[in-house]
Amino acid sequence: MELGLKGKSVLLVGASRGVGLEAATMFATEGANVMLIGRSEESLRQAVARVKKESGNRNVEFFVGDIRERESHLRIVEATVAKFGTINILVNNAGAALANPNMDMTDDLWTEALHYKLLGYIRTTMAAFPIMRKNGGGAIVNVVGGTGREPYSWTSSTGVVNAGLLNFTKSTATQYAASGVRVNAVNPRQIDTKRLSDFRTVEPDGYERTIAEIPLGRLGRPDEVASIIVFLSSDRSSFITGTAIDVDGGATRSVSF
Ligand SMILES: NC(=O)c1ccc[n+]([C@@H]2O[C@H](COP(=O)([O-])OP(=O)(O)OC[C@H]3O[C@@H](n4cnc5c(N)ncnc54)[C@H](OP(=O)(O)O)[C@@H]3O)[C@@H](O)[C@H]2O)c1
Repeated sequence: MELGLKGKSVLLVGASRGVGLEAATMFATEGANVMLIGRSEESLRQAVARVKKESGNRNVEFFVGDIRERESHLRIVEATVAKFGTINILVNNAGAALANPNMDMTDDLWTEALHYKLLGYIRTTMAAFPIMRKNGGGAIVNVVGGTGREPYSWTSSTGVVNAGLLNFTKSTATQYAASGVRVNAVNPRQIDTKRLSDFRTVEPDGYERTIAEIPLGRLGRPDEVASIIVFLSSDRSSFITGTAIDVDGGATRSVSF
């Protein structure tokens, strides 16, 4: 199936491992130019080498940036345009959650949670969107998380942030549909990455409970999320905007309308 990604410029924030690394490899295999963003230069170097080797595509670069820092979003976008001339696809994928129960969260921790993923995705989108609008179109994919619809019983800062991002995804898609920029979300849940094993360390009971609740009976693989990111970025999803696709082995129990 032709995805129409050849020669497209992809800015992939949170790309040195896990879901982002798999998505980078898929985009590069499809012939896109891919800019990988993360905080660790060493991890990014290794990731770029792996993506180039697996895809055979040389147009894969990295830029070190931390989306918690206010000015980094503009630098990330500028670096991508400087390298590939423009941005056609933005994937916001760099997130982390705090596992504390609500009343154990301090004001500083709430502020940290909101600044990390919620404002990180919003600021990067605001920096990249004018370029995509000028191009007459593009695709933004926000990798959010199932807790935006169904909070865990043992923590909720992740759900508060993810619910905000689902709202931001829908409202941006609607407000700017005429620009040709489509905006969608992917909701991973229980995907076997470093992030999930970190969670296991801080909240072993919650971790075991949530795995037992997955109807497909196993953890998801990063490539199973990446393929949906690539689909939502491609011409194959040209009539889809403002939606969120759960990739969770059936773990989300609610029906969404
Ligand atoms: N895995 C799951 O089950 C699951 C469930 C729900 C939601 N999600 C969401 O899915 C996305 C991907 O998750 P994942 O499991 O693949 O995560 P992961 O394995 O921890 O990878 C996260 C990637 O983002 C980068 N990153 C983290 N913080 C960053 C920052 N402040 N600035 C720039 N880059 C940063 C990391 O590199 P550095 O550390 O070097 O910066 C890494 O490349 C995240 O938004 C996560 O919240 C995942």
